[in-house]
Amino acid sequence: MWGICSRMVKVGMAKPCGVVKPCYLVKPVSSSRITGRYLSHQKGLPSLPVPPLQQTCERYITALEPIVEVDELTHTKELLDDFQKPGGVGERLQRGLERRACNTENWLSEWWVQVAYLDYRLPVVVHSSPGLVLPCMHFSDKQGQIRFAAKLIAGVLDFKTMIDNETIPVEYLGGKPLCMNQYYEVLSSCRIPGVKRDAVVNHAKSSRPPQHITVVHNFQFFMLDVYNSDGTPLTADQLCVQLDRICSSSLQANTEPVGILTTQHRDAWGKTYINLIKDRTNKESVSAIQRSIFTVCLDGPMPQVPTNAHRSRAAVQMLHGGGSLWNSGNRWFDKTLQFIVGEDGTCGANYEHAPAEGPPIVALIDHVVEYTRKPDTVPTAMAPLPMPKKLHFNITPELKKDIEEAKKGMNVLAEDLDMRVIVFEHFGKNVPKAHKMSPDAFIQVALQLAYYRMYQQCCATYESASLRMFRLGRTDTIRSASGAAAAFVKAFDDPNKQNTEKVDLMEKAVKAHKAYTNLAISGQAIDRHLLGLKMQAAEEKISIPKVFKDTSFAKALHYRLSTSQVPSKTDCVMCFGPVVPDGYGVCYNPMNQHINFAVSSFNTCKETNAADLAHAVENALLDMRTLLEQTPPRAKL
Ligand code: COA
Repeated sequence: MWGICSRMVKVGMAKPCGVVKPCYLVKPVSSSRITGRYLSHQKGLPSLPVPPLQQTCERYITALEPIVEVDELTHTKELLDDFQKPGGVGERLQRGLERRACNTENWLSEWWVQVAYLDYRLPVVVHSSPGLVLPCMHFSDKQGQIRFAAKLIAGVLDFKTMIDNETIPVEYLGGKPLCMNQYYEVLSSCRIPGVKRDAVVNHAKSSRPPQHITVVHNFQFFMLDVYNSDGTPLTADQLCVQLDRICSSSLQANTEPVGILTTQHRDAWGKTYINLIKDRTNKESVSAIQRSIFTVCLDGPMPQVPTNAHRSRAAVQMLHGGGSLWNSGNRWFDKTLQFIVGEDGTCGANYEHAPAEGPPIVALIDHVVEYTRKPDTVPTAMAPLPMPKKLHFNITPELKKDIEEAKKGMNVLAEDLDMRVIVFEHFGKNVPKAHKMSPDAFIQVALQLAYYRMYQQCCATYESASLRMFRLGRTDTIRSASGAAAAFVKAFDDPNKQNTEKVDLMEKAVKAHKAYTNLAISGQAIDRHLLGLKMQAAEEKISIPKVFKDTSFAKALHYRLSTSQVPSKTDCVMCFGPVVPDGYGVCYNPMNQHINFAVSSFNTCKETNAADLAHAVENALLDMRTLLEQTPPRAKL
């Protein structure tokens, strides 16, 4: 999790270690390199504010009320009183943060990438990198797979031209322009494993940006130049020829699946990586993958499942590849962007989270899907192209052992992940809108109701909120388990409550959620501020204040519901794993008339079940609509 957009627990619980800069960190596009449209747009964006200390402390207490015990809350209030007292540590840290805000483009962004992503040591696969499931495409054989992959590559290159020319239309949220930096971070970049901390390199910023992509087929990697000598991108027809040559020269999965190493725990992978690149050939091959613009995974088959489980299987394929016997070795999970094309029409992507959130990835995918729908052009005579270069690896016995370990670890993780994708077909954004409610808030309140019905309690809930209204902004947390949501879910199935009262409570819960969303996207939520204060203590080498070591703080960051809305034009859905062992990951894409949900949990936790939560969400949405329909407006309180 992400560092979970970062929904991940670890975010708030990050060790208060000293902040050491890695050799390469995700750096914002350097202002000196960029000219024109992008720069003037970026310059016009406001800086991320540091919220007032007292406001955050008060809002923190309010956020704790539905999720901690009374005595825990009392204790936290005492700690906060001490923290905030005049001349106390809180004031000192706040001043430090305000100084930092004056001296940096964004006081949070560099810390955030470190803490939420690069310091996070669990495997990126399942625990951090989201998958994206596209609608099933209309092909079912190798030729169809190659043809579609060729069009997809041409579509991505078309989007890249817009990035290179700085012509991507500026996006808006609530009428305000958004930071566009993430678009410049997702191509030609890659995560590099380290023994204690990872890094990210972005080769788009080098003096000779890469001209190739990597293609992986039957666990074998190839370097494919995607530009002609005159600088024009290869056409879909040319790409088809090249992909065909790649497939013909890798018919058997008879090599060691080196890519599976990228599924390891990061410390383990960091150590293996040092060994791997000691060999010159290996180093060149790894470098070619890291430098490539993106990766295309031409997948082999996945296990047979009943038709109604196809979408869930597709999500598994995008999230982790199904295990070492299937497609998990047909990946390089450190690569920022991997497009995945199966032989049966299953398609999607997986992305490494450090450089960007879902929305820019989805905007790219929307463009690509649109591009692939264009009719085929009439084939023209083609000049011969150089053979794509196979990337070789010399596997020592020690590396072979690491590969076997990685396979085992990946298989345990694949076995553990329970993923359920559903299409809620009864309504989409249309129904909440007709009732003058925010669709996102309506869905989040339904999630609270579903969870409460299953567990008879509320839990710390994370929803990603965009901070892209600010220069280099990433995300903050919308805490969906509000007091108003708790009051509503407790009343909903209470036979002693009248419908009018329930509707009133629902409206209050939805409004409270929307209000929190608005303050989060305007930089006034609590989570990143609290993290900043904690990081500032580490920066100033003072002991971590007690408020950050308290039970309430740990509970507040134990997100049993880790959720995110990732909307798109394409009828797709993003998916990710839970961020705590006893939690759920819930990603949804609300379309006008239906909602796509991807719900995950871990099988090793006996208390959670992805299908049960998905079912409970469907019921909650339906019951909330029924309540609204059965309660005429004039009868509402
Ligand atoms: N009555 C009628 N319509 C309403 C309404 C109301 N009371 N409130 C909202 N709407 C409409 C909006 O105008 C909008 O209309 P559109 O479909 O024409 O665009 C639509 O409903 C959706 O609004 P809403 O459901 O309130 O959500 P949002 O689009 O404002 O998104 C977040 C909310 C939190 C998802 C968004 O602010 C955000 O931060 N997104 C980024 C999340 C992210 O980064 N995720 C990725 C993590 S990897």
